[in-house]
Amino acid sequence: MEIIGSIDQLRARLSSEPDVCCVPTMGNIHDGHLSLVKIARQNAPVVITTIFVNRLQFGQGEDFERYPRTFEDDCAKLEAEGNTIVFHPDEQEMYAEQQEFFIDPPKVANTLEGRFRRGHFRGVCTVVVKLFNAVQPQSAVFGKKDYQQLAIIRRFVDQLLLPIRIIPAETIRAPDGLALSSRNRYLSAEERKEAPRLREAILQIRDWIRSGDRRFVAMEYAAGALLARYGWNVDYVVVRNQRELRRPAADDKDLVVLGAATLGSTRLIDNLEVSAP
Ligand code: PAJ
Repeated sequence: MEIIGSIDQLRARLSSEPDVCCVPTMGNIHDGHLSLVKIARQNAPVVITTIFVNRLQFGQGEDFERYPRTFEDDCAKLEAEGNTIVFHPDEQEMYAEQQEFFIDPPKVANTLEGRFRRGHFRGVCTVVVKLFNAVQPQSAVFGKKDYQQLAIIRRFVDQLLLPIRIIPAETIRAPDGLALSSRNRYLSAEERKEAPRLREAILQIRDWIRSGDRRFVAMEYAAGALLARYGWNVDYVVVRNQRELRRPAADDKDLVVLGAATLGSTRLIDNLEVSAP
């Protein structure tokens, strides 16, 4: 396993590699991340996983300080998955000067996650561009677990003409349906039992849509009310179109149900793509 901390070293190491696939992460590697690595390996001979907890994308009062940092464990898991190069810059390497230039994302970044996490996607887009410039990959893998993040990154790569193919990856789940997430570890035993209900509420909406129902607002309300009854603090459960994440127009068929809600002190997100009949 090669662990590289400096951008100069990384560039020197990769300068003669014609086909590199990048998997950006914040570490605390779980099977969701490993599935991205697997996809990356199928797409390119050289895979770089980046591990960097990006301060810029955390808001005031969010969990930047307590975000789990488990670098040695992460490397062991990545190595077992056949990932051979890890880029693990420190704060100084990524933000040697205070960051003054940012990627300013469009309005979609102020909805859903962006509405509850102000500035989040500006921080995500900015670090992703920096990581792309450090690694200079031909492709990169992002999970659908963070659906809005994937949608925004796809569009900025498109609009800014970055020569990088973005490869989406399906969400990996625990046997009871809970999407794997580094934040699941904050759940108490009791909360962990309750946690799959977010997914179940989303599945319920999927079934309604599949049966031909398009009363989305009523569905959103019912799902939110159900979760609230079980003690969740619901930020949103909504139906959107897949590409722009706007409210579905009458002829939109490619939809996605997205939800975010807090259980105790742990905020969980999930989503599911649905094709309307
Ligand atoms: P992080 O939360 O570590 O996630 C890294 C990648 O793993 C993202 O593309 C995310 O969608 C994917 N992922 C997380 N859980 C998953 C699951 N259960 N199944 C499939 N994929 C999953 O997302 C970030 O880091 C950061 O915002 C980053 C893009 C690295 C920028 O800092």
